[in-house]
Amino acid sequence: MRIDILTVVPKLLESPFADSIIQRAQDSGVVEICVHDIRNWSKDKHKKVDDEPFGGIAGMVMTIQPILDAINELRQQRTYSEIIYLTPDGEQLKQARVNQLSIGGNIIMICGHYKGIDERLRQHIVTLEISIGDYVLSGGELAAAVLTDAIVRILPGAIGDEQSALTDSFQDDLLAPPIYTRPANYNGWEVPEILRSGDHAAIEKWMEQQAYARTKSRRPDLLDKDS
Ligand code: ADE
Repeated sequence: MRIDILTVVPKLLESPFADSIIQRAQDSGVVEICVHDIRNWSKDKHKKVDDEPFGGIAGMVMTIQPILDAINELRQQRTYSEIIYLTPDGEQLKQARVNQLSIGGNIIMICGHYKGIDERLRQHIVTLEISIGDYVLSGGELAAAVLTDAIVRILPGAIGDEQSALTDSFQDDLLAPPIYTRPANYNGWEVPEILRSGDHAAIEKWMEQQAYARTKSRRPDLLDKDS
């Protein structure tokens, strides 16, 4: 899979992909992540990528030309299954959407800045709009990093222990159960006896019960299938 991210502040996206699982996934060829500076496509002599909004509204808007030229150039090189715009008024990101994107094809992400991108790009070019939550970030870059991380970590081969991604919170609409490591007793703080019993069937049942109880108390909305 290839993920191309269009931004006016590429530096913001240097470190999120340069370590741990996401770096390893790139090293092993599971994913190719390319961050592009939208200014490289600007035809303006000062490399401008924004302009004043129509209607006398305050702020600046990202113009169509550099973004569309960047997308057209990328689309000449390969096919993309989604062109995603990160925006607080997009669809709120959930694990089901992440799962779907991870088995789809290549993705272009557009990071908005200032007041956002010209609406006509959203109408004619963008295929999916994603919000990572009901709060406003100073740009779409951190949202693009969140979305990329969530997609890449579940790509086959990204996590060594294949089981691990499957037991995440949300993967079955349940939060993850509590987890412990050594020592079994830390100054009187005990690990539940069942986890040390060696009875794998009983442990699995206990973990399911714990996941359900935790979901019921913290996120009952997840148990309500219609929500
Ligand atoms: N850009 C600014 N805020 C955002 C958010 N909450 N989600 C996605 N993109 C954004």
